[in-house]
Amino acid sequence: MRKILIVQGPNLNLLGSRERQFYGSATLGEVHAQLRERGRQEGLDVVDFQSNHEGDIVDVIQGAPAKGFEAIIINPAAYTHTSVAIRDALIAVELPYFEVHISNIQSREDFRQISLVSEGASGIVSGFGPFGYTLALLGAAQILDGTHPKGGEDF
Ligand code: DQA
Repeated sequence: MRKILIVQGPNLNLLGSRERQFYGSATLGEVHAQLRERGRQEGLDVVDFQSNHEGDIVDVIQGAPAKGFEAIIINPAAYTHTSVAIRDALIAVELPYFEVHISNIQSREDFRQISLVSEGASGIVSGFGPFGYTLALLGAAQILDGTHPKGGEDF
C-alpha cells in the first residue's frame, strides 16, 4: 500500500480543547482515526506524527523518503509562519506535500497570513475544519495516481 505521512505541528495535540471556535471539538486522535479509515478506503497507508518541536519535525520530514512515504500532508501550525527549517526540509526531500490549516488563516491576525511553506506545496487547504485533512488526503491520492494538476499539466 502507498504510504502518506501526516505531520502535525505544535499545540495540535490539544485539538478538542484548544480554542474550539477556531479548531472545533474533535481530538487529534479522532481526526487521525478518520484519516486512517479514509486512507484504507483509498488504498493508502496513513501514518501520523505530531510534535511541539521544530527539529523533530525536520527530522521526520528528512526521514520520510527512506521510510517509503510518497507524499506528506502537513499542518505546521505556528511554525507555518516562522520556520525556514521546515520549509527547507519539505523542499529538500522532493516529495509532494499539501499544507493544511484547520482555520482560515487569511481571515485571522496579519502574522498568520504569511506562510513560509506554501510556495512549494502541491495544494493548500485552509478553513475547512478537520475535514481539510481529508481533502488533502484526496489530493495526495490524485498525485499518486497521476490525476492531480501539477505545474499546468492537463488533468
Ligand atoms: C493553524 C493556524 C496557525 O496559525 C496556528 O498557529 C495553529 C493552527 C490551523 O490549523 O488553523 O496552531 O495551523
